Amino acid sequence: MLWQERIENYARETGFPKCLFVGPDGRVVGTWIMGNDYRVKSAYYGGYPAGYLRRIRALFPDKKRPLHLFSGQVDLAAFPGDTVDINPELKPTYVDDAQTLERVPLEKYDLVLADPPYSVEDADHYETTMVKRNVVMRALQRLPIGAHVVWLDQVLPMYRKDAFEQEAAIGMWKSTNHRFRGITIFRRRDAAISQNVASAARRRAANRAGRREA
Ligand SMILES: C[S@@+](CC[C@H](N)C(=O)[O-])C[C@H]1O[C@@H](n2cnc3c(N)ncnc32)[C@H](O)[C@@H]1O
Repeated sequence: MLWQERIENYARETGFPKCLFVGPDGRVVGTWIMGNDYRVKSAYYGGYPAGYLRRIRALFPDKKRPLHLFSGQVDLAAFPGDTVDINPELKPTYVDDAQTLERVPLEKYDLVLADPPYSVEDADHYETTMVKRNVVMRALQRLPIGAHVVWLDQVLPMYRKDAFEQEAAIGMWKSTNHRFRGITIFRRRDAAISQNVASAARRRAANRAGRREA
């Protein structure tokens, strides 16, 4: 599905004004102002604001196997899918550490919604240590080609450019006194492109090394 089609489906299903655009480089940019639609239905600390899942779902009508990573008390009525959390009390489909995902058959999933703790202080609320974002992204490399990762955070996680392409960057505003957040949407790259990106990176590194020696 092309991004233009995703954006049109989003406008049709949500009825929200046009706020996502495909930029000249093919990357999607935009801003979501959540307005009064910011409350967390479950009241779970750090839970998705109401309306978030509906918006994401409208962008991905083609996805059949979604996985909620750092799932907390995600509203599965708003966005059905399997769940992963480190806390067994939340009864996720998989109790696992997002940094390894050893128990999760990632090859089955075509969409991952990730909502990690944003800071050490946030992690304290869940009685967990702060996650290393790059290690989570490394684990997610086991996703099938074409799978998307929707990452909600205050930081852009480090990722391998030959494994993921950053397809969209969406700013999210809630009401006053709430932190701004960013939604980064990655796509698991196909193998041929991955190889091209990897060889271009190797060529750049070799050129840099050559310049240093000269
Ligand atoms: C921001 S909350 C997610 C809230 C969720 N989006 C919702 O709507 O309820 C972060 C979640 O990450 C979980 N978590 C923290 N460290 C984790 C780790 N290393 N692996 C998996 N889950 C982790 C916490 O238990 C917490 O439920």
